[in-house]
Amino acid sequence: MIRINENYLKLKASYLFSDIAKRVAAHQQRRPEPAVIRLGIGDVTRALPDTCIAAFHEAVDEMAADATFRGYGPEQGYDFLREAIAENDFRARGADIDADEIFVSDGAKCDTGNIQELFASDVRIAIPDPVYPVYLDTNVMAGRSGTFRDGRYEGIVYLDGTADNGFIPDLPAEPVDLIYLCFPNNPTGATISKEQLKTWVDFAAANRAIILYDAAYEAFIRDDALPHSIYEIDGARNVAIEFRSFSKTAGFTGTRCAYTVVPKSLMAYTASGESHSVHRLWNRRHSTKFNGVSYPVQRAAAAIYTDAGKRQVAELIQGYMANADIIRSEMQTLGYDCIGGENAPYIWVATKGDSWAFFDMLLEKAGVVCTPGAGFGTCGEGYIRISAFNSRENVTAAMDRIRRSLKRQCHLE
Ligand code: MLT
Repeated sequence: MIRINENYLKLKASYLFSDIAKRVAAHQQRRPEPAVIRLGIGDVTRALPDTCIAAFHEAVDEMAADATFRGYGPEQGYDFLREAIAENDFRARGADIDADEIFVSDGAKCDTGNIQELFASDVRIAIPDPVYPVYLDTNVMAGRSGTFRDGRYEGIVYLDGTADNGFIPDLPAEPVDLIYLCFPNNPTGATISKEQLKTWVDFAAANRAIILYDAAYEAFIRDDALPHSIYEIDGARNVAIEFRSFSKTAGFTGTRCAYTVVPKSLMAYTASGESHSVHRLWNRRHSTKFNGVSYPVQRAAAAIYTDAGKRQVAELIQGYMANADIIRSEMQTLGYDCIGGENAPYIWVATKGDSWAFFDMLLEKAGVVCTPGAGFGTCGEGYIRISAFNSRENVTAAMDRIRRSLKRQCHLE
């Protein structure tokens, strides 16, 4: 009798964003007009930068001729892209990362989900709450949790993010082995200072723990004092893996390209205390289970590091951040406390009540989709996340609809 991995039975029936998509589809079927405006899942809406498109086309043409055609590429990514990443994203910011420490992939979601399989099934996991659901769900799938009770899994160390700590969790009170951090944060948009990040690096070093640092939203940082990479912090090379993505930075959600940095100096241990290179393990995993990102996509990604590419990416980001400014200021004017939206494309809004009820109300009355905070964890209750990823026209229209519905709602109460 074939048996299932029963850890899957501990999960909620469907993934947060699939659940929301179903609710929105049902609403649209009931009420096709007006068309909903989506400020829920963080999916980009603007076209790829021209330089990426030109590089993409050129690479496709290379695939059309025997002389320039490419078959399997290196699983870790082509040198032209790994070199451009190391130079621009790290060395230019004083972070000591080499090209061969970079693993190009098809997404930070996949990498943050897959990385945990390098570690023992009984390592102690510390996960923020609220959190991007992938970190938690993949550890549940791997059997690192007990059952789900009162909104939380047994056996997981939760790091609470609250208004009181500005959604920067405190260090765990107990020793842990694997720590997930994400800054600028998804879902809250909170950012961490270099001094605060240093305390996490020191904690990890003292506990021989590893930090999994998700920096998928670093391109949205406007405050120069904030770290873009954990490797800007002394000692981080020995304790951290970093995840980056071209999805939000350059509009690659449908094109798929990301990368993970695993420094060669990062070690993990056997039960008897023997140290092993995590880089070697990830390389083994990556080359066994992954065949690389397609050549044209890697060429398109590398184009963002040209002068024109940098300019065009900056314009894209500024466009989305101008949306974030509109959303944040409108919600504040309506009397809602907000965090995020200053160095991140997400605005975390205190709803003064149940987050799914607020989600339903915005969908029903305004035809606007947001993400209920409770979907990101118990500490997300009482908040919604509004995404700045949409056209200016749609964001303006959405805020207009939200203003009118909230005022009408206030009037009725
Ligand atoms: C989000 O909305 O949180 C993101 O789009 C999800 C993702 O990047 O996978």
